[in-house]
Amino acid sequence: MTEFRAPVGTRDVLPPESARWERLAALFAGQVERAGYGLVLSPMFEDVGVFERVGEGTDVVRKEMYDFDDKGGRRIALRPEGTASVVRAFVQHRPTPPFKAWYVAPNFRYERPQAGRFRQHHQVGVEALGTDDADLDVEVLALAWSVCSALGLSQVTLLLNSLGDDVCRPAYLESLRSFLGAASLCDEHAAGYEKNPLRVLDCKRETCVTATADAPRLVDQLCEPCAAHFGRVRAGLDSLGVPYTLQPRLVRGLDYYTRTTFELAAESLDSAQNAVGGGGRYDKLAEALGGPATPGIGFGMGVERLLLACDAEGVFPVPASTLDVWVVDTTGGAEAVALTHELRGAGISADRSFDGRSMKSQFKSADRSGARLALVVGDNELAAGTVTLRDLRGGEQETVDRADLLKHVQERLS
Ligand code: HAM
Repeated sequence: MTEFRAPVGTRDVLPPESARWERLAALFAGQVERAGYGLVLSPMFEDVGVFERVGEGTDVVRKEMYDFDDKGGRRIALRPEGTASVVRAFVQHRPTPPFKAWYVAPNFRYERPQAGRFRQHHQVGVEALGTDDADLDVEVLALAWSVCSALGLSQVTLLLNSLGDDVCRPAYLESLRSFLGAASLCDEHAAGYEKNPLRVLDCKRETCVTATADAPRLVDQLCEPCAAHFGRVRAGLDSLGVPYTLQPRLVRGLDYYTRTTFELAAESLDSAQNAVGGGGRYDKLAEALGGPATPGIGFGMGVERLLLACDAEGVFPVPASTLDVWVVDTTGGAEAVALTHELRGAGISADRSFDGRSMKSQFKSADRSGARLALVVGDNELAAGTVTLRDLRGGEQETVDRADLLKHVQERLS
């Protein structure tokens, strides 16, 4: 019989590794909920148009999307990223702005899998809609930074750029086009630079990197309002002590960005896949999705990549077991049923062995579980109405009245 495996580019996350995922999501929620962001759950698939509107010129949408016709003949796509879904939900439900949302969700991209690049990856992220105040940019950037710090990551660089707006970008794109027209580019971009010249700045091929070394920079051609906005973002980050590096070549892989854009690069990871997060402003996206003109900004961080960076820096390890009690019952199992139920009901985590195992085997499982206490019921204890408590770390033990059990367990755990 065929033994099935997880599809190429996907991974199963099992305990105890999954405990890190829980902790990471909880840490993220803690950071962003403190800043007023609320959890948003949106569908894992959308009308394909939601994503086509936001990224027609990008690989993520053109080449990597999992799109298909459903049984009702609707053209559907699995979500390749979270922003378009949240903005679609904003446009649909019109919550009162500012609307501050966070999410933890899987995304699907048909990419060539490699270390740190998956076909299903997960992002924790925030989106904030309803104001173009530069203070919000500072808040969002500071949150992204604080998540890295809270994880214990110290080898991460915040790369910052401004992509301007409808006023200054068209003229910049013209100057970039004429520069690129005279440069020798890789085959892909020699053919495609006219359509989307910004993509050339993102090309990792040596030919394009060399050819664009002296390309005109958008930061030098920002209109006055965009330059002022960028100045306020930088001053705000400086005042909070959030360090950043200006990266005028940073264009990001999605089309919707305006003004502030950023990436978090982990120096501990291979440079091809070292972005642990990225984001920016998208002041035209709500309109593009049929809603009222509503500026917005957000970021997404790749859970798998964050954890790879944590591994590389030796921080945020798999947490130790949090199990309080292992019940060892050598009287047939009925005591274990009752005791685990009683303990759990009192808020104490408890587990046990099954299948009438020997005392030795049950203690082995107790040790393996990482539980702090073993609670032993043998024939003597059963007859005397007692239970023996053994500290699995220190080794000492005492026999207590069954009636006082919870009090003793709580004392030992506290
Ligand atoms: P993105 O840069 O495409 O942006 O993805 C955000 C992060 O998700 C990346 O920095 C990376 O850590 C992770 N990631 C992306 N693709 C993969 C993959 N194939 N395998 C593993 N990890 C991956 C966005 O998705 C935007 N929605 C971010 C945003 C939010 N912008 C504004 N708001």
